[in-house]
Amino acid sequence: MIRLLHLSDPHFGAADPLVADRFIETARSLAPDFTFVSGDLTMRARRAELRAARAFVGKLPQPQLVIPGNHDIPALNQPFDRFFRPFHRYRGSFGHELEPELRARGIHAVGMNSNQAFGFHANWSEGRLSRETLARAEERLAAQETGLRVLMLHHPLLGPPEHDREVVKPLPELLSLIARQQVDLVLCGHFHRSHLAALPAGAGWHTVVSQAATVCSTRLQGEPQGFHVIEWSGDRLDITRHRFAATRFAEDAHFTFRRDAGTWQAADRPTRDESARNP
Ligand SMILES: [Fe+2]
Ligand SMILES: [Fe+2]
Repeated sequence: MIRLLHLSDPHFGAADPLVADRFIETARSLAPDFTFVSGDLTMRARRAELRAARAFVGKLPQPQLVIPGNHDIPALNQPFDRFFRPFHRYRGSFGHELEPELRARGIHAVGMNSNQAFGFHANWSEGRLSRETLARAEERLAAQETGLRVLMLHHPLLGPPEHDREVVKPLPELLSLIARQQVDLVLCGHFHRSHLAALPAGAGWHTVVSQAATVCSTRLQGEPQGFHVIEWSGDRLDITRHRFAATRFAEDAHFTFRRDAGTWQAADRPTRDESARNP
């Protein structure tokens, strides 16, 4: 069994220090084999925020795959940095590679940069994947035949039903890539809402989507801070959602997905641990 820890959107600059500290303790006690951070490490890529985010990530279990989110680009009041070198500050803390890759112990994970510093449309916080990013991810995924294929991007594939917020674009192109390369697991964040599902990608292929809530920020969207623990063994993915309740993180719900009849399917309805729920 391989254990993956998936967290997102810590948002230093608007982080709750108690929740961040509790998360570090919990993450260490879970002893994951890999840690995945799907972006929005800061509020606006300010230097102090990046320093705090770097220190936080440095305390989490290794090895790690970390990507930027739309909040890791400087704000409009920093026009030079925003338009001419949007990831310069992020790179100073987290390294040059915006689309890192991780291959170890049967896991092949590929990061995609879905963030944009500007665009010819109203909402620049939305996610868009360039043709180059899509082609690069496809080429990397095609290079490995066995194991668990994982894609990580900041922006989500699934919208909360009551919201009309946009999912990542172009979704049809991303889904066809996922189907062609038989991506097993997609990790993302951004909406600050937990969502776990087997998503039909086309050609009979379903991928397991893990969209994580904010792990320690005060920017809540109707649910407490949380994260996911994903356990992979052969044709099975067991995912436990953890949520912050009062003074600590606790297991809140379990989801099982099985690779059956050639694709991933939800094995049963999620089971909730009622005793551990947020009051
Ligand atoms: Fe966020
Ligand atoms: Fe975001």
